[in-house]
Amino acid sequence: MKHILVTGCAGYIGSNLTDFLLQNNYVVIGIDNLNDFYSPKIKKHNIEAALKNENFIFYELDLLNYSKVEEVFKNNKIEAIVHLAAYAGVTYSFEDPLLYVRNNLEVTTNLLNMCVKYQVNNFIFASSSSIYGDSEAPFIESMNTDAPLAPYPATKKACEVMCKVYSHAYGINSTIFRFFNPLDIRIRPDLALTKLIRSAMFGEEFPQYQDLNSTGRDYCYLQNMLEVIMHVIENPLRYEIFNLGNSAPVTLGHLVAAVQKVVGKSVNLVRMPERKGEMTLTFADVSKAEKMLGYKSKTPIEFIVDKYYKWFITQEEWYQKGNY
Ligand SMILES: NC(=O)c1ccc[n+]([C@@H]2O[C@H](COP(=O)([O-])OP(=O)(O)OC[C@H]3O[C@@H](n4cnc5c(N)ncnc54)[C@H](O)[C@@H]3O)[C@@H](O)[C@H]2O)c1
Repeated sequence: MKHILVTGCAGYIGSNLTDFLLQNNYVVIGIDNLNDFYSPKIKKHNIEAALKNENFIFYELDLLNYSKVEEVFKNNKIEAIVHLAAYAGVTYSFEDPLLYVRNNLEVTTNLLNMCVKYQVNNFIFASSSSIYGDSEAPFIESMNTDAPLAPYPATKKACEVMCKVYSHAYGINSTIFRFFNPLDIRIRPDLALTKLIRSAMFGEEFPQYQDLNSTGRDYCYLQNMLEVIMHVIENPLRYEIFNLGNSAPVTLGHLVAAVQKVVGKSVNLVRMPERKGEMTLTFADVSKAEKMLGYKSKTPIEFIVDKYYKWFITQEEWYQKGNY
């Protein structure tokens, strides 16, 4: 059984990946500090099932605590790292950019150092479509990404470059996944889908920062992404960057319509001023991931919204109503 370190294992993507790897007979060593970027109650809830599995070894630990992190490497035989822990969120990164530099760039550099010291030769890093900024769509991996629009994507770009340095200087295999807009169960509460469902179900206001029809997000299905992460766990690459999106951007109006259809009620939209650093369009060219990794995309938004809603209504009242 391969032992995989998943950082950020209690977050949205991390908890889904943890469950997926456990189902596929891996041992998951998970690190998360359950920070309050959003409620730790949600994060504990995310890993409730995993904690019952004897192949899940959980460390509630801040990755900035380098000596404790090193103990994890000393005490476990780690064969690959999927590094998901980060501060995400474009807007908030303007308020506290140093928090992003520390938790994203510093932490990533320390983990790369651990790879060298403890001979872990497969580092998989979660980057973001936001590093494309205002580039012309569709976004291709080979495009220049030197002009991100906010500190958050700037830290992701810096991490990508740091992975390249470690791959070149120490031969550490690194794969960068630029996630576009993954949707699935447990999606973060600060993202649009959760707020839209809640708005339709309970009449809560949905702050609409962008135009309904002239903006687009390349919403994609997280399960397809987990499969290619597992593929790279089994087949490490020297240094490659892959877009993981859907190659089919959806307007906010389209997403709202999909939510209204499954819930059977209207969303309560409230127009707000646009936010600094926000992109108008995300649109991935995914041909490289399709060709090299067998990545499947093109999942209709209606399918994912329906899956999410069916899961959401099985959650307890505190979760549904946002009483975190
Ligand atoms: N969700 C998206 O739409 C999206 C899009 C592009 C990229 N990404 C990237 O994917 C990764 C996962 O995103 P997510 O949406 O699951 O976010 P998330 O906030 O739900 O998960 C991140 C987890 O990392 C943990 N964490 C952060 N700093 C830590 C530290 N110093 N020590 C220990 N744990 C720490 C948090 O507690 C959290 O549980 C992030 O790197 C994010 O930048 C996400």
